[in-house]
Amino acid sequence: MNVRIAPSVLSADFRKLGDEIAMCEAGGADWIHVDVMDGRFVPNLSFGVKVIEAVKKSTTKVVDVHLMVLEPENYFEDYVKAGADVLTIHAEAAPHLDRQLARIKELGVKAGVALNPATPLSAIEEVAHMLDLLLIMSVNPGYGGQKFIDYSVDKIERARFLLDQAQSPAVLEVDGGISRDTIHRCWKAGADTFVAGNAVFGAAHPQQEIAVLRNLCSE
Ligand code: DX5
Ligand code: ZN
Repeated sequence: MNVRIAPSVLSADFRKLGDEIAMCEAGGADWIHVDVMDGRFVPNLSFGVKVIEAVKKSTTKVVDVHLMVLEPENYFEDYVKAGADVLTIHAEAAPHLDRQLARIKELGVKAGVALNPATPLSAIEEVAHMLDLLLIMSVNPGYGGQKFIDYSVDKIERARFLLDQAQSPAVLEVDGGISRDTIHRCWKAGADTFVAGNAVFGAAHPQQEIAVLRNLCSE
């Protein structure tokens, strides 16, 4: 299984976003994770289209956009135009998952669904075959630097099973509190893509930390 490390720029130093992204690339980051928050679906505001554009201009890596917003469909086209390669919507914010996943794919990018810690996997069961990515939140979304929720590991294991049963090639991503202490368990449970904000940008040597995290994804 391919391991991908996706630093979350939410924890980057915004005075030098381009340099921070270049540092991630030099450290071997596979994807760049961009957290869009609307202050409604989650109790925090972050950034939108302009920052996605800036990230896209700063990297050749996959721009992985995590939409923590209500009515995400209002901006699909804008996010894609800005350079998103993956658009992930929250099941809790998108009652018409089937329609919205189809719309994202129509726009020519990968379509993902994220589940909050309290949302059961059954929320995506019927659309598993449509997913390019399933994101298991291992914190309540809204902020970087939160503590990993331990019961997420069991959920990842069941998500892996669900995707395998559906013969889905979807990426299984985990987001929130990923660090040296938690990444191995998530990998073992079947996740292949790991978002890391604080663990990378808060590290003494951020560039090296990406490799440290990746190396922990092995027996
Ligand atoms: C949380 C965001 C995460 C966040 C992760 O709402 O979706 O992507 O940046 O940050 P860490 O890795 O610090 O928990
Ligand atoms: Zn995220």
